[in-house]
Amino acid sequence: MACVVIVGTQWGDEGKGKIVDLLTRNADFVVRFQGGSNAGHTIVLRGEKFIFHLIPSGILYRGKKCIIGNGVVLDPEVLLEEIKELKERGYFKDDQQLMISEEAHLILPYHRKIDVARERIFKIGTTGRGIGPAYEDKVARCGIRVIDLMDEELFREKLEANLLQKNTYLVEVLKEEPFRFSEIFETYLRFRDLLGKYIKDTTRILHEALHQGKHILFEGAQGTLLDLDHGTYPYVTASNTVAGNACAGAGVPPTEIDTILGVAKAYTTRVGEGPFPTELRDEVGEKMRQRGGEYGATTGRPRRCGWFDAVIVNHAIRINGIREVALTKMDVLNEFEKIKICVGYQIDGKVLYHVPSNLRIWQSAKPIYEEMEGWKGEIRGAKQYRDLPLNARRYIKRIEELIQARVTIISVGSEREETIILKNPFGK
Ligand code: GDP
Ligand code: IMO
Ligand code: MG
Repeated sequence: MACVVIVGTQWGDEGKGKIVDLLTRNADFVVRFQGGSNAGHTIVLRGEKFIFHLIPSGILYRGKKCIIGNGVVLDPEVLLEEIKELKERGYFKDDQQLMISEEAHLILPYHRKIDVARERIFKIGTTGRGIGPAYEDKVARCGIRVIDLMDEELFREKLEANLLQKNTYLVEVLKEEPFRFSEIFETYLRFRDLLGKYIKDTTRILHEALHQGKHILFEGAQGTLLDLDHGTYPYVTASNTVAGNACAGAGVPPTEIDTILGVAKAYTTRVGEGPFPTELRDEVGEKMRQRGGEYGATTGRPRRCGWFDAVIVNHAIRINGIREVALTKMDVLNEFEKIKICVGYQIDGKVLYHVPSNLRIWQSAKPIYEEMEGWKGEIRGAKQYRDLPLNARRYIKRIEELIQARVTIISVGSEREETIILKNPFGK
């Protein structure tokens, strides 16, 4: 039995989907434990591209169970669309493969509207998927959970009480149109009918799986620097993205977790607003964006690009307890003459080797760089570590020294096979 948690070590989009897909081969269950359809996890399988927002990235394997855990905020409309598309493409033929926690909270249309309208004021650069407002309701204890849909009267009561508040807020404060009760009520009862077969007590199912010695892969969304507590607040998402939340977000005890695998991109990207010390607003950043296809998988927004920042990844290593790292998108750096790594920040004449909490300090941080020679050659076909050019190996070694963790998986292309596995976290 092994439980492996996969988390992003930067600002999301590190390539978690690809790594989850790769490791699902050795797993029995793949579990999403936080976030919602703000996530966009891409898998490329023999040239065919899949983007998952809610369905765990293990779904392409027949027979592997995929769980949407209690910590997720679930938009039924997005999920139904994803299910439909997958089925049309000839995947996900067995409905037993997917399970949705009864305790997951629902995203309702007013969450999305509030999210988008509030962006005019707060300018976080959210995905507009209603994530923040849905988690707010969960914490305020007025959220509507998946299980509530099963009791029509309870659902009616909760929706009525919520709509009263939300419509007042929408109309009076945000100057938006209100929602009609009947529209949402009927739509969501229809969603219940369509999704009913997937709704389960997933915590108990996971406990049973643990008891039977199954292998479980926890699929984190977003990244550590987007964590509500440990990220660049307020420019973060509304959930804890760190490995510790795999337990709360799925109902699995911390004592069951064996390995935390951090996913790090060989450079850095960020979508939305907020500090990003190594950002390159020049042709070098543009080259990364073009070579790496750095456009949001959920919103299509161009991702901001910059050099690898060892300070933030080191922060992620410590917060999550990561000892093993999957380093992705190494091939994107193939054509760079020189490659830089940020090893610390210069702030008001002082040098800082850890991330600050103060947003103003974050924003004035100037990166201190080490410069390395590029390898100037194609590495996509590399199958083993020794196939990599010397300068690529040097780059990896230097990153390992700086972040104090071992690079155990090296991704050199978007396909499942374009990966060098030095150590499999499931021990296979
Ligand atoms: P996630 O949110 O962490 O799952 O990452 P995204 O799917 O949002 O973004 C990662 C992008 O990089 C996707 O388009 C992947 O197909 C792609 N990708 C992943 N690993 C590699 C790699 O090693 N090389 C290249 N060139 N692309 C990769
Ligand atoms: P994956 O799982 C990158 C960012 C948004 C915004 C901030 C808050 O694909 O790595 P939200 O809609 O969550 O309230 O937006 O978080 N963000 C992501 N950035 N990858 C993601 O997910 C993200 N999910 C949210 O761009 O800056
Ligand atoms: Mg993504």
